[in-house]
Amino acid sequence: MTSLNKLSPSSAISYQELLDQEDVPVPAHLRETRSPDLGNMRLDVDNYISPEFHRQEVEHVWKRTWQLACREEDIPNVGDHLAYDVADLSLIVVRAAEHEIKAYFNSCLHRGRRLVTEPGCKSTFRCPYHAWTWNLDGNIKFVPCKTDFDYAGDDAFKLPEAKVGRWQGFVFVNPDPKAGPLMDFLQVLPEHFKDYDLDHCYKALHIQKNIDCNWKAALEAFMESYHVIATHPQLLTFMGDANAQYDILSDHISRSITVNAVNSPHIEPPPAQQVMEDTLRESGRVFNEGELQVPEGMSARKFLAQMNREIFSREHGRDYSRATDSELLDAILYWVFPNIEIWAGYLANIVYRARPLGNDPDRCIFEIMVLQRVPEGQDIPAGVPIHYLADDERFSDAEELGILGKVFDQDLDNLPHVQQGMKTAAQNGAGGLILGDYQESRIKQLHRMLEHYIGEGRNAAGSL
Ligand code: FES
Ligand SMILES: [Fe+2]
Repeated sequence: MTSLNKLSPSSAISYQELLDQEDVPVPAHLRETRSPDLGNMRLDVDNYISPEFHRQEVEHVWKRTWQLACREEDIPNVGDHLAYDVADLSLIVVRAAEHEIKAYFNSCLHRGRRLVTEPGCKSTFRCPYHAWTWNLDGNIKFVPCKTDFDYAGDDAFKLPEAKVGRWQGFVFVNPDPKAGPLMDFLQVLPEHFKDYDLDHCYKALHIQKNIDCNWKAALEAFMESYHVIATHPQLLTFMGDANAQYDILSDHISRSITVNAVNSPHIEPPPAQQVMEDTLRESGRVFNEGELQVPEGMSARKFLAQMNREIFSREHGRDYSRATDSELLDAILYWVFPNIEIWAGYLANIVYRARPLGNDPDRCIFEIMVLQRVPEGQDIPAGVPIHYLADDERFSDAEELGILGKVFDQDLDNLPHVQQGMKTAAQNGAGGLILGDYQESRIKQLHRMLEHYIGEGRNAAGSL
């Protein structure tokens, strides 16, 4: 059992001070700090509970922004396809040719039936209602009694397309025909991720569950480490929750860096051996077998970073001698507007996605994916299928998550109560939620950008 420290968290070692202890040159993007003044925001709970705010999000966000549809390895072969659904929108994402991925609006041009309901591999899309059939390139192949429809003209039969962009193995779609390029939308992200080559990874784990909360509440559970003290007390011996750095890097990109193998400033420092053992047992992110001993005078952080450096070099067939301890241990978590978060660094890279379930602001689809590096010289395997958890199943029921299932259950157990509590907050006259100025700045930025896209400007919205 750990005892609470009398230290103020503000006197804790900062992430930048930890970088000073690195033995190798530190990449510039880790040295970057950016915390602009986002204003004294009292967050309106209508953003989470109001059907009208949801409707505005559909019009101004989901119909207009780039959003993650899938990984390339989810559709490795020509004809592989899936449906990407968000609110009322549905897009078919298909590998139309070996090097070409297309997205079509998932609706038959005849009487509107949804064309694709299940993922699979096909050489054509055939509507089950009256058999209208399209080739993978979107050109019509067959219409029974075609002459009855000739009046519409040949152009009327081409399947309408949405935009597709690809980056590091991620497939993004944008329903807006006027959308700018994905790479412009991603802003600083490609530069920050250039060493992490996520295009040489494959999706080794994918869990999906419907949660009784707004999509933003689910995403925000992963935007700050301020919740660790209450929600994950078992992590305090090895997670620097109050040491975390938060950066608003650009309009669409924010980042938190939470240090691992360093105790929380909220507790008295435990011995290095305990920090090391708890990290191995409870983090679900750092693994080794057998009896290990931190040498006298060495920190748990240095010991575990060196261990990962050696294990990853062996397993990935790469040389990590120039990788920082931070990139081998820490939770370096980027948000991409509107609804995904991606871990940077050389640990298995977790990806979170949250999106509305239909038009119910009280429900969302929440997903956890884990990308694993493919050893140098090996082909990228197909991504694993989605493991859907039923409403009464927990993340700890997904054995592939290991100890992380317990951690995610802790996170997500809060969420239906958050959603319900928001409804009471709408009545309490307090004037909105009070967000931490620094530690919850990424949540401020999410809402700031939503307001910006929606154009209401209620909360000092605007481009940075
Ligand atoms: S609705 Fe699709 S063929 Fe009639
Ligand atoms: Fe958490």
